Amino acid sequence: MKVMAHRGYSGMYPENTMLAFRKAAEAGADGIELDVHATKDGVLVVHHDETVDRTTDGTGRICDLTFEELRRFNAAARWDGKFGFQPIPSFEEYCAWAAEQTLFTNIEIKTDNTFYPGIEQQVWDMICAHGLQDRVMFSSFNHVTLMKLRQIAPRTDVGALVLEDGMVRVRPGDYCKASGFQAWHPSFASLNDENVANCKAAGVAINVWTVNDMAGLEKLYAWDCEGIITNFPGVAKAWLDTRV
Ligand code: G3P
Ligand code: CA
Repeated sequence: MKVMAHRGYSGMYPENTMLAFRKAAEAGADGIELDVHATKDGVLVVHHDETVDRTTDGTGRICDLTFEELRRFNAAARWDGKFGFQPIPSFEEYCAWAAEQTLFTNIEIKTDNTFYPGIEQQVWDMICAHGLQDRVMFSSFNHVTLMKLRQIAPRTDVGALVLEDGMVRVRPGDYCKASGFQAWHPSFASLNDENVANCKAAGVAINVWTVNDMAGLEKLYAWDCEGIITNFPGVAKAWLDTRV
């Protein structure tokens, strides 16, 4: 089971910052999960929310801010000065760093609430510019974005993100296979024996978010899920190492 650091090592460091990504790598994470938006002037940036309000000392929607404006905000502002100033990274900055690492990246494209014209191609071009084609996968709650990525990068895996109740009446394995998606990315709450079995039968990988407790980790291991997306990659990795 692969350990993906959710927004980096976000349980202990400011989420989606280069610090959190470096700490995840140091903790031995197999992969990093991150979120991508685009600024008003078209720069790809790594951040979870549509706005910077929750995570930084700034305010505003990313799509209404220029990159220069956004870089003035401190993404570690909510950590009581513990980590100094940590800017919101550009996706380019992340890719340049990742090119020097061995881990893979699960890139979530945040087109579920905001329409960023051409972001799928733009993300792929950045990946190619840094030679990361063989160490990335894509995920999104917007499955049209995934369809686009299948056309742009047909050899790269995509994972269909779904919310807690997103697949209540649909067999996720059948759905993903029919859609050309290689993985299902459910929240832990929507997993059960039946849909795990359906994915296994369909040959669809299961990468589960966001699992931060031992009971959840053990359950995913018992289900033989392919990936865990967690805020505490060091803990998950240490436990999994004892299983070998
Ligand atoms: O990729 C799994 C997870 O990151 C999806 O939810 O809201 O944390 O982006 P969210
Ligand atoms: Ca995410």
